[in-house]
Amino acid sequence: MSQPHAVAEGALSERLRGHTARVSVVGQGYVGLPLAVELARAGFTVRGIDTNVDRIEALNAGRPHTPDVESQELAALLRAGRYRPTADFAVLADSDVVIICVPTPLGKSKDPDISFVAAAAAEVAARFRPGQLVILESTTYPGTTEELLLSLFEARGAVVGENVFLAFSPERIDPGNRAFKLRDITKVVGGVTPACTRLAALLYLAKLYENVFRNVNIALANEFALMCRRLGVNTREVIEAAATKPFGFLPFYPGPGIGGHCIPIDPSYLAWKVRLNGYEARFIHLADEINRAMPAYVVELVEESLNRQRRCLNGSRILALGVAYKRGVGDTRESPALEVLAQLQQRGAEIRYADPYVPSVVVDGNVLNAVGLSDQELSAADCVVILTDHLEFDYRRVVEIAPLVVDTRNATWECPAAPGRVTRL
Ligand SMILES: NC(=O)c1ccc[n+]([C@@H]2O[C@H](COP(=O)([O-])OP(=O)(O)OC[C@H]3O[C@@H](n4cnc5c(N)ncnc54)[C@H](O)[C@@H]3O)[C@@H](O)[C@H]2O)c1
Repeated sequence: MSQPHAVAEGALSERLRGHTARVSVVGQGYVGLPLAVELARAGFTVRGIDTNVDRIEALNAGRPHTPDVESQELAALLRAGRYRPTADFAVLADSDVVIICVPTPLGKSKDPDISFVAAAAAEVAARFRPGQLVILESTTYPGTTEELLLSLFEARGAVVGENVFLAFSPERIDPGNRAFKLRDITKVVGGVTPACTRLAALLYLAKLYENVFRNVNIALANEFALMCRRLGVNTREVIEAAATKPFGFLPFYPGPGIGGHCIPIDPSYLAWKVRLNGYEARFIHLADEINRAMPAYVVELVEESLNRQRRCLNGSRILALGVAYKRGVGDTRESPALEVLAQLQQRGAEIRYADPYVPSVVVDGNVLNAVGLSDQELSAADCVVILTDHLEFDYRRVVEIAPLVVDTRNATWECPAAPGRVTRL
């Protein structure tokens, strides 16, 4: 028969793997807020607890106080009910995981002031529920988890490693650092018992798995687009038809490749780690190969479209719509649009681009400044290539005026067009 502690560990493991665990992050400061947002993005239901009611009010209104969290993203998670800021510790009672990220300043005598940790931990211990994982992320001296937290839980009858799992994971974030954000920094996890370490590692692994899932499914949609082209079938129509099944299917759409500082990168971290453990992550490698080949495929589509009009790419004027890696943001990190532009330029095309969020970009060492999307720009282009489907673009107008359109985002899906004028993925 299974031991009770193995049952508790197994139940929590299931909820962490399935992203159904309820997570509370105590302290919504420079560390706690980005962490709560990351976990909500990974699919968990997250409550952000803070004693500062003004901060909670601002967060509920969608106003983040740190540059590490974008207001658009915060608003989307609030709308979806995946992240809820609150000053009420009562939500701890039904939390599967509690992460403590409160301040650890120095006192007047330069001794550690762990009163915030002690106060937060007391609130958590007072509402302790068997089977909870509690992680301390505040920067503190060695021994705090065992000396302070453990005794608070033991006083409530909890047995560590059996019905409560305690771990310490130092947060190493550098707020405002655009090169290294929370997700770019390796997590170090230490549990009071091996089961505590396993559960804490699982929580952070869940985030990587979610990105692998998206990466692989986007690659499948991209490869499917290549297959549909060979068969003369409209990819979008097939995906929309498949999505009418009310269960067992989640639609992903093809695009010019993957970008941002998450999906193209995180899976490679996992692949690297498992390679050190003697295993090759084949799905991850294949998805990466397919996704990274998409910009070249887009260039091929532009060439083919021009070719049909007896024009060649060399010397043609190409207007790119969107260079950001996704709709509604100005972030061009890892953006596949930059690779498409670089390859078009290398083949002699004259490149211009419009993007309301990105005033200038560097392509192959050359600085390009954005142009406004006017009728004149559209008609002067030999081909318009849609790389980011920003909502600000008037796609009907684009299809009406541009002589040729290559649409990698299916933004023109509902725009009537003469045969041969618009090529879609
Ligand atoms: N900011 C950094 O650059 C950074 C980097 C790595 C580690 N750390 C460490 O992370 C911890 C948190 O730092 P921070 O920068 O997020 O601090 P912060 O001051 O930005 O935020 C802490 C938040 O905790 C709240 N708080 C205080 N007591 C509380 C309680 N009992 N219950 C609930 N909420 C409470 C505060 O109102 C505040 O919003 C510290 O130990 C710090 O040393 C900080």
